[in-house]
Amino acid sequence: MNERSPRRLLVAGGAGFIGSNFVKLLRSTRPEVEVTVLDKLTYAGNPANLRELEGTPGYRFVRGDICDGEMVDHLAGQVDAIVNFAAETHVDRSLLDPFAFVLTDVLGTGVLAEAARKHGHDVFLLVSTDEVYGHVPEGRSKEEDAFRPRSPYSASKAGGELLARSYLESFGLPLVVTRGSNNYGPNQFPEKIIPLFITNALDGLKLPLYGDGSAIRDYVHVEDHCRGIDLALRRGTPGAAYNLGTGVETSGREVAATVVELTGLDESSIEQVVDRAGHDYRYALDVSQAREELGWSAGIGFREGMERTVRWYRDNQDWWRPLRSGEYWEFYRRNYKPLEVK
Ligand code: NAD
Ligand code: TYD
Repeated sequence: MNERSPRRLLVAGGAGFIGSNFVKLLRSTRPEVEVTVLDKLTYAGNPANLRELEGTPGYRFVRGDICDGEMVDHLAGQVDAIVNFAAETHVDRSLLDPFAFVLTDVLGTGVLAEAARKHGHDVFLLVSTDEVYGHVPEGRSKEEDAFRPRSPYSASKAGGELLARSYLESFGLPLVVTRGSNNYGPNQFPEKIIPLFITNALDGLKLPLYGDGSAIRDYVHVEDHCRGIDLALRRGTPGAAYNLGTGVETSGREVAATVVELTGLDESSIEQVVDRAGHDYRYALDVSQAREELGWSAGIGFREGMERTVRWYRDNQDWWRPLRSGEYWEFYRRNYKPLEVK
């Protein structure tokens, strides 16, 4: 198999959850690759995620916005490839403030694609999501399926992907896309279901389950997802998209029950709350293309991944406790109106 191996990478959004796990994976497995992280440090970006890399050779951090064309162009001129993680990512926030998502996830992606095209990069790796397929009542989404996004988040991700695809068709941009399922693991901001439920459990707060808790997701451990992104970067065919998931279906209620069990609480900690508007009740991926073309499959099962993740949040309270203050509780109040907040 012919592999590309870009020597200098710009990792946009590298201070977030998945981006920082990816950068750490890359530094440990291929230390010869020079990495520049570009990140705006929104509420979700956290310099602490990358602290262990500060001052190490071949690594640098630049604070900036992917919508800033001049700065992106300058940085793109110093690298061989871009991997884009930068995005607004939380569906519930997209229901409260949709246009922040349009700006970063659509326009920002376009700015990066433009810079990659201009500088003749080897590859532009766009980290997309299974949410672009929308609600999947039956069967499994294949890469060629139509986009049917239903939230401002997923519509913005689909818009960014389509814009990048137009650069592939119009200008020959060597675009490779990954569409990952729901990630969990260390350093995830405590707003998505798994880190929210774990931190609430450790804080003695209720676990707010939307509706009847039957909505289905495919939870992939972030280490598996990052390994898949790295394989797509090296082996992905320009123009291709790769679904990255486990193929295992898990309901919200099962997530809650697992957190309750692993933190020693009882079921009364789970509280059903008003359902999310436009809730996508099922995502399900066909991951055969990633297996066959990239040689990738997820290795960490849900139970093992959850045990590791609960342990990480228990052992790293100095990482997440400062995040749960001020704006965090304002968002929490707006989103979970009926619930009591500390
Ligand atoms: P995150 O919210 O933890 O991190 C996003 C990062 O992007 C933050 O560091 C933030 O500061 C940065 N950022 C936001 N706007 C920016 C801008 N305008 N310019 C520069 N930086 C900016 O997100 P995550 O969960 O790590 O997701 C990373 C990527 O993976 C996203 O593109 C997301 O759509 C995709 N994805 C996420 C999941 C998931 O389950 N979390 C699943 C599939 C795909
Ligand atoms: P989430 O982690 O927000 O990811 P997604 O982008 O896939 O919606 O939500 C995952 C599932 O968990 C989804 O079905 C909604 C549900 N959920 C809750 O029941 N309670 C919560 O507080 C959150 C954040 C999510």
